Amino acid sequence: MLRAQNIFIVGPMGAGKSTVGRQLAEALSYTFKDSDHEIQRRTGVDIPTIFEFEGEAGFRVRERHVIEQLVTEERIVLATGGGAVLNPENRQDLSARGVVIYLHCSPEQQYARTARDRNRPLIETEDPLERLREIMAEREPLYRQVADLVVSTEKRGTSSVVKEICRRLE
Ligand code: S3P
Repeated sequence: MLRAQNIFIVGPMGAGKSTVGRQLAEALSYTFKDSDHEIQRRTGVDIPTIFEFEGEAGFRVRERHVIEQLVTEERIVLATGGGAVLNPENRQDLSARGVVIYLHCSPEQQYARTARDRNRPLIETEDPLERLREIMAEREPLYRQVADLVVSTEKRGTSSVVKEICRRLE
């Protein structure tokens, strides 16, 4: 039912959006895109540097521009940043222009996957797990609002997740 449309992946950091997205794109012979990578490519600096100089608000403006353009491409799998759904225009574009897959996992699992990663400025706090819980409580309704498919990545490998998505896209 859902083939031949763009696929947009949403979900929290550590859910596996980029890893799953890359493998899914390969399985479908689509082009893989990642909004964070695109922002880094355009600015020539990493995400923490953008947060440092422009704050989260500046980052969100860049993220909006990138998503606005990427959703108009064809046959792409797009991994969005965890906070992309905060912007109503992003939510509107993602829902209208493709199939949205919400990759879901618990804050504990997110923490296990991101704990050693210095590339996530939003959880550079004293208690990253608590921060992940707060962020998830705020965003979970938004992920569900845009999702056509909800797929768990809790304690699962990438191949099994990709297989499930391919099956459910039939
Ligand atoms: C963010 C998630 C990050 C990145 C930025 C903000 C968020 O992307 O866009 O650090 O608000 O959750 P990932 O979800 O790919 O880690």
